[in-house]
Amino acid sequence: MKIDVLLGLQWGDEGKGKVVDFLAPEYKVVARFQGGPNAGHTLEFDGIKHVLHQIPSGIFRPDIINIIGNGVVLDAVVLRREIEGLKKYGIDASKNLIISKKAQLILPTHRLMDAASEKAKGVSKIGSTLKGIGPTYADKIARQGLRVGDLLLPDFQKRYETLRDKHMNVLAFYNEPVELAEAEAAFFEAIEYIKQCRFADTEYLINNYIKEGKGILAEGAQGSLLDIDFGSYPYVTSSNTMAAGACTGLGIAPASVGEVYGIFKAYCTRVGSGPFPTELHDETGERMRKEGNEFGSTTGRPRRCGWMDLPALRYAIMLNGVTQLFMMKADVLNIFDEIKVCTHYKLPDGTTSEELPFDMDAVEVTPVYKTLPGWSQSLKGITKYDELPQALLDYVAYLEQQLNVPINIISTGPDRTQTIIRKKIKEII
Ligand code: IMP
Repeated sequence: MKIDVLLGLQWGDEGKGKVVDFLAPEYKVVARFQGGPNAGHTLEFDGIKHVLHQIPSGIFRPDIINIIGNGVVLDAVVLRREIEGLKKYGIDASKNLIISKKAQLILPTHRLMDAASEKAKGVSKIGSTLKGIGPTYADKIARQGLRVGDLLLPDFQKRYETLRDKHMNVLAFYNEPVELAEAEAAFFEAIEYIKQCRFADTEYLINNYIKEGKGILAEGAQGSLLDIDFGSYPYVTSSNTMAAGACTGLGIAPASVGEVYGIFKAYCTRVGSGPFPTELHDETGERMRKEGNEFGSTTGRPRRCGWMDLPALRYAIMLNGVTQLFMMKADVLNIFDEIKVCTHYKLPDGTTSEELPFDMDAVEVTPVYKTLPGWSQSLKGITKYDELPQALLDYVAYLEQQLNVPINIISTGPDRTQTIIRKKIKEII
């Protein structure tokens, strides 16, 4: 049995939570492999909207084991809040949640450093969610981070204080007033609380599950264009958001990866700073934002909106080895008479390119568009692929021809039920 990987191909917010929740019955295990509470995975069913930040999106299916992998950065306060929040829906998340002992802990001072660093950057700020992601991964790479397994050590308090004091020196450099008492108290309460969850060397568990033939779905966070190596650096998150990240973030060999599901919106959005060639600064962009309710599920910030960008999508498909595409939020385009797709870029020297330039931020790229007819009708009540309007079928066919990968799911609304399956995604496991 292989591990299937599901990830976002754009700048995040593609709708991964909905798809994981939808596919979960096909699997026995759902595992997050990177990122942290900067993610906001939204699931909607039975008229209720749920947003998960730390817990994998398989948590609503009672028989699924949910794993927070070693590649994740964990905020115990957020996790505690999330576990408590699920109780009112009759879910005891601590029962089927296993946390890697090697996942890194986000400390209160990581969040303060994130905020101080962003403030100091001024107009060049990344637009971080300010959840402490960058500073926590920086400590991991500097080999001084604290891990979930450290919580069980007798000298955890001392280790915490040593790192916190280093952070205080950094914060003093930024000259920021530091109010820590309340956040520190909440942190210590939360780490006691999360000890009710099972901590494990999850790489062993996962590799045993593979041997036993249990289906595993690796759930990515953010999107490929925010990847630390291949995203629009420095306007990126601090982890490897691509398929390779599933190997390092869970402890699996590349040969164990099976299907790679690439999730993309029928258009593009981006939250935070950084290059976005097809961004619309006009009324069309406004309409897209309103129709798609494009406001961050973690920060509430309005998302920047624009047309489909084929060079960017092709790049993400190439980096991830995507085997199946799932197109989300097709219904948001119902309101447009015409739909545009960027096929390539025009560069300042007059040449054209289908590749993303090294320094996207400094190089002014002009998107060149192909225009397709819109379908200008509601998709409500449509449950079969063949019943979709012809113009939407043509849009899908055009994208498939351009991308060379089948589009097997088309999402026509936020609810679980508003999902059109075109081809069998997976044999039932
Ligand atoms: P950070 O990961 O919070 O430091 O944010 C770095 C960049 O990634 C910022 O532009 C954020 O807006 C963006 N980002 C981080 N997480 C997400 C996400 O889950 N969805 C969309 N954008 C994100």
